[in-house]
Amino acid sequence: MTTLQQQYEKAKKVISGGVNSSTRLNQAIGTPFFASKAIAGHVWDIEGRKFIDMSCAHGAALLGHSHPAIDNAMQTAAKLGYVNSFETQYHEELASKICQAIPCAERVRFCSAGSEATLHMIRGCRAFTGRQKIIRFEGHFHGYHELIFIGGHPPASHLKDNRNHPYIESAGIPQLFADFIIPIPFNDPEALKQAIDKHGHETAAVILEPINYNSGCIKAQPDFLKLLRDLTKEAGIILFFDEIQSSFKKSPGGAQQDFGITPDVCTIGKALGGGLPLSAFCGKAEIMEIFQPIGPAAHSGTFNAHIIPILAGLAFINEIKKPEFYSTLQKLEAQFHQGIDRIIKDNNLNMIVPYHGARFDIVLGRKTPALRYEDTLCHNKDLMLKIIKACFDRGVYFHDYGGSCVHHGYSIQHTTEDIDKVLNVLEDVLLSIKNLLKN
Ligand SMILES: Cc1ncc(COP(=O)(O)O)c(C=O)c1O
Repeated sequence: MTTLQQQYEKAKKVISGGVNSSTRLNQAIGTPFFASKAIAGHVWDIEGRKFIDMSCAHGAALLGHSHPAIDNAMQTAAKLGYVNSFETQYHEELASKICQAIPCAERVRFCSAGSEATLHMIRGCRAFTGRQKIIRFEGHFHGYHELIFIGGHPPASHLKDNRNHPYIESAGIPQLFADFIIPIPFNDPEALKQAIDKHGHETAAVILEPINYNSGCIKAQPDFLKLLRDLTKEAGIILFFDEIQSSFKKSPGGAQQDFGITPDVCTIGKALGGGLPLSAFCGKAEIMEIFQPIGPAAHSGTFNAHIIPILAGLAFINEIKKPEFYSTLQKLEAQFHQGIDRIIKDNNLNMIVPYHGARFDIVLGRKTPALRYEDTLCHNKDLMLKIIKACFDRGVYFHDYGGSCVHHGYSIQHTTEDIDKVLNVLEDVLLSIKNLLKN
């Protein structure tokens, strides 16, 4: 048997840092999780240990692993000879289904990763408005590229300065890109009004995670969202919901359906591909037609909308339309959240587990919902790493994002027994560190 540590040593010799995505080095366990297989709600590591998977591919495996509908789609793709770089009837069929499901979608373009979708949609917003600046919210994440990986997660020491000098989140991003980014606090009407008063004339889009799963699962407050919709409309700014994570988690229409506010454009992804790489950007026809061959903005790519993820996407959409799909997820949701809330209350733990649909965050150090990024800075990352490691040792896998208060979740194939086990393990683990969870 090869151990995780041995595989990590081998991988580091040929793969930079031993991983193909920086956050795959699980700091809690000290190595990446090298998987050998994944079935339904479970994943096995190369040492043969079986885990309940509470990561679900960062939210992409809402159907769970090796779902029969996706297996069938793979077989169909094989029969079609994996025909690539052509349009097919399946592309149009999937786009039609997305236009029916997502309120703002009148036209769709497919790509693979969420980061690609936000990159192209930002380009489209700039091309359509002829403006260059982007208003964004602290705590929100929209991908790793130069256009937007700025000002989102400043360290506490840079928070004040972030609003004047947006924090560059990766080495290698030229400082100049920060000139186009206006970071403001979430759910703060005054900050929003001021930003639009000052910069509205030069702002192409306001981009947000309507549910900020990437910092404490903070929801946009209804009045704030309405104000955002009204002010952007008045100022001719495109309202851009980044629903890469929130799409399909609670309903087929995403947060825009759940909250009843329709943006001008949005990005969707992760779950859409049923576990395969598929994302999309979509929106009002007049904006989406800014892309070539109709308009002047470029969006092209050899592997765009590859037939394998497109067929998987169709299978996914057909699954979520089944009447029992969301009612099954809701049962798991009720079981998990009633259970964890009881554990927190009975033991007076200083933490919250906010959620929206099948995805939740674990925030340590506070008992009430956070409203914005700075409210989550109480979260103790070292303690979170301890919790993740202790759960791992008991057969429950939570992905580690450097101990941050980021999202976890379950899938349609998780069972009530899985959720019971997760709750038992969490109760054990949380009680063992109770004294460290100071009020
Ligand atoms: C809201 C949001 N936008 C964009 C992305 C980037 O997606 P990807 O990792 O597929 O590039 C993510 C990924 O977590 C996300 O949560």
